[in-house]
Amino acid sequence: MCGIIAYVGEKKCRGIIINGLKRLEYRGYDSAGIAVLMKEDGKKNNRQFKPDSYGIRIAKQAGKIAELEKLIKGSDIDGCVGIGHTRWATHGAPTQINAHPHMDCNSKIAVVHNGIIENYAELKEELISKGHKFVSETDTEVIPHMLEEFNNGDLLIAMQKLLKRIKGSGAIVALNSQVPDEIIAARIASPLIIGIGRDGNFLASDMPAVLEHTKNFIIVNDFETIRIKKDSIEIFDIDGKKITREPFKANWSITSAEKSGYEDFMLKEIFEQPFGVKETMRGRLIEGQLDFKELNMTSEQIRSLEKIHIIACGTSSHAALLGKQLIEKWARIPVEVEVSSEYRYKDPIVEKNCLFIAITQSGETIDTLAAIREARSKGARIVSITNVVGSTVARESDAVIYTHAGPEIGVCATKTFTAQMIVMYLVAIYLAKETGRLDQEKIKEILDELEILPNKIQSMLNNSEQIKRIADQLYKYKTFLFLGRLFGLPVALEGALKLKEVSYIHAEGYAAGEMKHGPIALTDTNTTVVSIVPRDSVYEKMLSNIEEVKSRNATILSIATEGDIQISRYSNYVFYVPKTIEELYGILTIVPLQLLSYYIAKNLGRNVDQPRNLAKSVTVE
Ligand code: G6P
Repeated sequence: MCGIIAYVGEKKCRGIIINGLKRLEYRGYDSAGIAVLMKEDGKKNNRQFKPDSYGIRIAKQAGKIAELEKLIKGSDIDGCVGIGHTRWATHGAPTQINAHPHMDCNSKIAVVHNGIIENYAELKEELISKGHKFVSETDTEVIPHMLEEFNNGDLLIAMQKLLKRIKGSGAIVALNSQVPDEIIAARIASPLIIGIGRDGNFLASDMPAVLEHTKNFIIVNDFETIRIKKDSIEIFDIDGKKITREPFKANWSITSAEKSGYEDFMLKEIFEQPFGVKETMRGRLIEGQLDFKELNMTSEQIRSLEKIHIIACGTSSHAALLGKQLIEKWARIPVEVEVSSEYRYKDPIVEKNCLFIAITQSGETIDTLAAIREARSKGARIVSITNVVGSTVARESDAVIYTHAGPEIGVCATKTFTAQMIVMYLVAIYLAKETGRLDQEKIKEILDELEILPNKIQSMLNNSEQIKRIADQLYKYKTFLFLGRLFGLPVALEGALKLKEVSYIHAEGYAAGEMKHGPIALTDTNTTVVSIVPRDSVYEKMLSNIEEVKSRNATILSIATEGDIQISRYSNYVFYVPKTIEELYGILTIVPLQLLSYYIAKNLGRNVDQPRNLAKSVTVE
C-alpha cells in the first residue's frame, strides 16, 4: 500500500524520484506527489525568504504517476534533496489535496507516509486546539503538525517523540527546509529500506525503486529513526541511542524490474515462470537429491511433529492449501490452513510439537505478520516462505525459505505463486523423507518429475496463442465458475481469484463436488465453467460434474492432460497440459489459467498490472 522514495545527494532528484515512483506504482496508484528542497531567494508564494535559504516545493496530483509527470512538465521543481509518494487511499478520497506530501502550518516540514495512524482523530483534535490548521482528510497530516510541535531544531528528536505518541503503522519520511542537507525518517511496521549510493543515499519502501542506482541496502527496523545526508547514514532507536547495522547486497537485477519488451509486467512474469521454478529448486534439488538446510530442523524434530499450521493471505493462501494436501498425503502430518486475517482473533491453539509456516510473497502483509507474532507469543516455531530477502516476516522467523522468483511488479501474483508451489512440493517431500513415510522409489519419481517441470511449463507458454484465442471467445461472459477436485481445487480457487483481480468479472472457485450445493444455481448461458480436469484419480468424478453444468447450458473450458481425446466431447474448449504425476498437475494447470485471465482482461481493456482498488502488498489491516 503506498510507495515511498527519497533521495539526498549530489544529483538533481526529480527524475530519480519520478522513476522510483513508477517502479513503486504497484504499491498504490490513486494519487502521487513529490516535494523537493529548493533555494528560494527573495519573495515567493507570498513568503519572504532570506538570501540562500531553502523552501519546500510540492507538486501532487490525483491519478497515476503519469498525471504527476504532466503536472510538473515545464516547471522548474527540482533539487538535490527530495521525497516522493504514490498513494493507495485509506483515510480520505484519492484527491489532490489528500495526496502526499503533507505539510505543517508554516510549510517548513513535508512528510510522506505509508501506513495508518490509528489514533489520528484524537491527535488531530489536540493539534487543532493548539491552533494547527488542517487541509486534508488524511490521518497522515497529523504527522507534519506534530513534528512542528515537537521540533526544537533537530527533526530527528521530534520524530522520536512522535513515535511515542502515534499508534498504528507507518514508514514516515520528512524534509525540513531549515536543515536542507538531510532527510529524517522512521518506521513502525511498514517497510522501509536505506539504499547506499555512490553520490547520495536513498530511502524507499522496496528495493526495485532504487535498484538502478544501488544494490547496497540497510533494512530499517520497527521503532527506529533515521538521518540520511549525501555522505552519511545514521540509525537511532526511539530513545536516540545510535545503532550500527551492516548493509547487505541485493542479488536482484534491474532488468528483472523492467518490462523488457513485454506489454505488461503480468505477461512478463507469467513467461518468467520456467526460470522462477528452476531458480527456486536450485541448490535444493541437485541431481535427484533433496537438501533443505534452510528448514533448520533435525530429523528428530521433524519426526516428532504432530501438527503443522500454515497461514497466508490471497494467492499465498492457495499455495498453503496445496501444501496441506501434499504434506498430509506424503508426510502424514496433519496440517491446518488458515487465512492470516482470521488467525489471531480466535485465541488460536498452538500445540507443543507443532510447526508454524507463514507464506507471503512480500513478507510484509500486515495480517500475516500479526499472525506469526501471535503464534510466536504462544511458543510456536516459525518458518516463513517469502520472495523478499530481509522482509519483516523473514526477519521475524526462526527459519526462512526464499522463493527465487525475482521481483514481482504486477499486482497479482503469478511467478511467485508457482515458486511457492515448488517450495510446498520440496518441503512436503523433505518432511516425508525425514519421517520415512514415503518410499524411496516414490520420492525419486516425484523429484525426477519436478526437475523437468520448467520445460513442461515452457512448452505451454509456447502455446499461449491458443489460450489467447480462447480468451477472445470468452471475455464477454458474465460469470465464471472454476471447478476442481483434490489437487485441482487450489488451482480452481487461484484461477478464479486471478480472473476477478484483473478482469473484474464475477468468478468463483469451487470444489466441483460442492457445486451442486449452490453455484449450480448461477449456471446459465452467460456462464463459463473452467474445469481443472487432468488425468488423475478424480478424473471420472470431474467428468460427471462437467456433465451437470453442461446440461445447464454453461460453456465449458477444460484444462486437461495431453492425449485425452474423451474430454473434447464434454467441452467447448480444451487446453492441454503436458502429462505429469497426479500431485504435480497443480503447477501445470495454473499457468493456462493465468494466461486466460490476462488475455480476457486485455480484451476488456483493463490495466492488468494495476487493477482497480488492489495493492501488491497490503500493509494495513
Ligand atoms: C495482495 C496482493 C495479492 C497477494 C496478497 C498476499 O492482495 O494483491 O497478489 O496474494 O496480497 O500477499 P503476500 O505478499 O502476503 O503473499
